[in-house]
Amino acid sequence: MVRRPHERRLGGTDVRWSTLAAVPSTVPDGDPVPADGSLPAQAYRGAAERTLSVYVHVPFCATRCGYCDFNTYTAGELGSAASPQSWLDAALAEIDLAAKILGTDRRVSTVFVGGGTPSLVGAEPLTRILRAIGEWFGLADDVEVTTEANPESTDRHLLDRLRGAGFTRLSLGLQSTSTRVLRVLDRIHTPGRALDVVGWARTAGFEHVNLDLIYGTPGETDAEFADSLEAVIAAGVDHVSAYSLIVEPGTRLARQVRDGELPMPDEDVLADRYLLADRLLTRAGFGWYEVSNWARTDAARCRHNLAYWTGQDWWGIGPGAHSHVGGVRWWNVKHPAAYAQRLAAGRSPGHAREILGDDARHLEDVVLRLRLAGGLPLDVLTPAGVRGARVAAADGRLDDAELANGRAVLTVRGRLLADGIALSLAG
Ligand SMILES: C[S@@+](CC[C@H](N)C(=O)[O-])C[C@H]1O[C@@H](n2cnc3c(N)ncnc32)[C@H](O)[C@@H]1O
Ligand code: SF4
Repeated sequence: MVRRPHERRLGGTDVRWSTLAAVPSTVPDGDPVPADGSLPAQAYRGAAERTLSVYVHVPFCATRCGYCDFNTYTAGELGSAASPQSWLDAALAEIDLAAKILGTDRRVSTVFVGGGTPSLVGAEPLTRILRAIGEWFGLADDVEVTTEANPESTDRHLLDRLRGAGFTRLSLGLQSTSTRVLRVLDRIHTPGRALDVVGWARTAGFEHVNLDLIYGTPGETDAEFADSLEAVIAAGVDHVSAYSLIVEPGTRLARQVRDGELPMPDEDVLADRYLLADRLLTRAGFGWYEVSNWARTDAARCRHNLAYWTGQDWWGIGPGAHSHVGGVRWWNVKHPAAYAQRLAAGRSPGHAREILGDDARHLEDVVLRLRLAGGLPLDVLTPAGVRGARVAAADGRLDDAELANGRAVLTVRGRLLADGIALSLAG
């Protein structure tokens, strides 16, 4: 029995899907955020040594997939309480607020528009948001600008417009090429549509394209997952994220599992699927660079997610979005109506925050950097952590040769157990 590569919460760090600004549907409690959103002095210390990124959360979906607990709403769920227009106005106001609080002397290295379903709101709002970020902060010459998209709401015209507006990277949720598996996941697109979108993105001139896969859906066979991997490889994308299906409490999937309609994903099957993904992707020329992420070249790695994993600064715009600046982490109110009301009243949308102490920062650093292919240098570990690393290397979870060179780097078996190993190294 092994644990999944994607542990949900560890020492306050949400490593689920490995993206820290990703927006699960519940927001934690913490210290209050001042009404004007101001940050303590420590947030600004050493800022010149860190890059600045912006995450933008689009909280709308056409329908809700049964497995998903992200902070997203269908039109029916929202009613008249909020709309794409009120979200856009508020998001633009939050960008103004971010510029006032952070100052505008740092250019933005990466922007990531995620959701929810960004492609649902169309090109115009996304373009206005990117323009506002550029006007306030300036975008680095080599800025990476990603948008997530769903196949059914993405067409050639949208991609052409986004590319023209400066988006450089597309991240598309395929999940599986089996129509049966897509049905269990409540996905409303065909696999063919997702693969068509990849072709259109290439024609539109996107520099990088990612496909997301989910493995371990109840009823999925090894052959179906292998077919999904082969299709992703054949599609010619330069990045793949593969996530084990997590049964989130409160979702339709969780109810189906509880009522015995669907079996719980089996831990050993999940581990085997992970190993299959790594084998097929490696054979096709992809290299893993984070436990759940593979890229064809170094340039194809997602620099935005790397900024999360290496403790840089980012501001999360939108309902429920999380931010991190110099060891201060805060998260916005969750509901789009509350979010819009706060900003319309000239107040910060921050729901709560925490100021990370040295121990919490160390734990977070070890947890996140250990998941990277480069691992972390032993000299950041305490003596107890170094002892933990030696034990992990002795039983094949850390790479022996790397350890001899002073680095803790996971073996493929170690990747299945990453979070447990990180805890023993953080000690
Ligand atoms: C939250 S979605 C947002 C992007 C877009 N709406 C989509 O569905 O592709 C981002 C990715 O999170 C992953 N995801 C969401 N819920 C998950 C779960 N319960 N288990 C594993 N992966 C999940 C999916 O692979 C999805 O592509
Ligand atoms: S489309 Fe994406 S964000 Fe929306 S419910 Fe499905 S997985 Fe969640």
